[in-house]
Amino acid sequence: MLKRHWKTLLVSSVIVILSGIIVALLIFMKNQPPEKRGITALIEIANMEADSALWGVNFPNQYTTYLKTETNNQRTTYGGSEPFSKLDEDTRLVELFAGNPFSIDYKEDRGHRNALTDVRETKRLNDKTPASCYSCKTSDTPALWAEMGVENFSATTFKDMSYRIDQPIGCANCHEANTMRLIVTNPALDEALKKQGKNWQSFTRQEMRTLVCANCHVEYYFQGDKKVLTFPWENGTHIEDIEQYYNDYGFSDWQHKTSGAAMIKIQHPEYEMFTAGSTHFNAGVACADCHMPYTRDGSAKFSSHDVKSPLFSPAQSCGTCHTDVNYVVERVKIIQDSVHTTLLATEDALVAAIQAISQAASYASVDKAKLEEARKLHRAAQVRWDFVAAENSMGFHNPEEALRILAAATDLARQAQIKAIEAMNLQVSK
Ligand code: HEC
Ligand code: HEC
Ligand code: HEC
Ligand code: HEC
Repeated sequence: MLKRHWKTLLVSSVIVILSGIIVALLIFMKNQPPEKRGITALIEIANMEADSALWGVNFPNQYTTYLKTETNNQRTTYGGSEPFSKLDEDTRLVELFAGNPFSIDYKEDRGHRNALTDVRETKRLNDKTPASCYSCKTSDTPALWAEMGVENFSATTFKDMSYRIDQPIGCANCHEANTMRLIVTNPALDEALKKQGKNWQSFTRQEMRTLVCANCHVEYYFQGDKKVLTFPWENGTHIEDIEQYYNDYGFSDWQHKTSGAAMIKIQHPEYEMFTAGSTHFNAGVACADCHMPYTRDGSAKFSSHDVKSPLFSPAQSCGTCHTDVNYVVERVKIIQDSVHTTLLATEDALVAAIQAISQAASYASVDKAKLEEARKLHRAAQVRWDFVAAENSMGFHNPEEALRILAAATDLARQAQIKAIEAMNLQVSK
């Protein structure tokens, strides 16, 4: 029996083994990141290559969508890519930022390809501005940091560094060349994570699809005389942790021209706001899910590198998870409108506090201790308000957190106003 069928047995075993190999191979291929699937790189890319056009030779779909970030110019109700002046839209901002360059020039953000032009054109910078201001605007920085060291880079002025920089944000800000792995390219992010006992090398792919944006979309400051770019995350990334960090460190960005308070200017804390327990973050959704949705070009499926407001592409950005796209887009409007209304109420409270403090300070016999308390309350109120105002989603990334922070900010601003009036009363009753 066995002898007569050995041929059939052999043939079937070969078939079984071969099919096993093919199935294993298919499973292996399916589990590879998309870029490795059957795409052969045409050219070798140098480590930290700043010129995105070279990377684009290997990845034309990602490159052509990335190029669109230069020409997008449409506006949405609270965002979009038109660089309108925020100061024209809301004149209270001029009073809130009195004495800070943001009271002179404050524009709506636009696409990644414009970052270099925009930082060079802003009236907020001058000749003494540190080169650190280039950190998040160009794909030249990763290679320059590696070559010069972060301290030497930061100690150079913006003007002196300019001749070494000619690329806007590009592939080298987010990817490792050739492997195309998402990486931390900003040493300040690596440092901040280490201080929290975290190592990004062990992050999952989905976590990296958010963390890669934290290379830039975070609150930061320039530490010490060398102006080293630093994230204030040692106590955590909630606004209260950040405030505590700055208070302990005795840091302020500027002195308020009207109230005299030592102030903090918050910069685009999208990462901190989103990761502070938002519904989407808790559900494992990443920044790239909404801002870099998968797109099809014939048989190719790739991540759109046309990073912009998801309100321009709700079907791709939200439709992968939400069946009723119109409903969630309507929800965005309701969330943003209510956060905006609350934000303006906080601004009114801040303006009232600033005026009261300024008036109190004008009396020679003002209660100085109370006046100082009022200034501290102004600082505490405005740093909270700014955490929501400087965050670019008008609350959408984390509505509950935004409204919680604004409620605290309004309360602190009214406390500042009352404290200033108390400081005056003392003088009046004498
Ligand atoms: C669930 C979807 C979603 C996720 C996840 C998400 N965003 Fe957004 N984001 C939005 C929406 C919606 C807006 C509001 C756009 C508008 O008002 O036009 C927005 C606005 C923005 C803006 C301002 C855009 C503009 O047009 O000016 C930036 C910058 C931004 N997000 C960055 C991030 C970063 C960084 C992360 C991750 C830390 C993130 N987003 C996570 C949906 C998302
Ligand atoms: C190297 C720094 C850097 C990285 C990394 C980065 N961004 Fe940005 N992003 C910027 C800067 C700077 C701007 C504003 C550019 C301007 O206004 O000229 C910006 C603008 C944006 C905008 C507004 C675009 C528009 O048209 O209004 C969105 C949305 C955005 N980024 C999302 C993201 C997301 C999502 C990630 C992660 C996948 C990310 N960014 C990673 C620096 C960065
Ligand atoms: C702001 C950060 C950022 C920049 C700049 C950027 N990428 Fe990406 N890229 C991503 C993210 C996020 C993904 C999704 C990765 C994932 O899902 O693992 C991605 C994915 C990819 C992939 C994998 C296939 C795919 O489409 O999902 C390729 C290839 C790629 N990018 C090429 C490029 C090239 C070429 C450039 C420059 C022209 C570039 N990227 C610039 C963030 C960026
Ligand atoms: C990767 C999946 C994913 C994407 C993409 C996504 N969402 Fe969600 N969204 C969720 C999950 C999960 C929840 C939690 C509630 C649920 O299960 O519906 C949620 C909840 C919401 C909620 C209710 C929030 C709350 O606190 O009750 C709104 C509004 C919303 N999403 C809007 C959007 C919009 C707008 C977009 C596109 C810009 C979007 N989502 C993209 C997965 C996603």
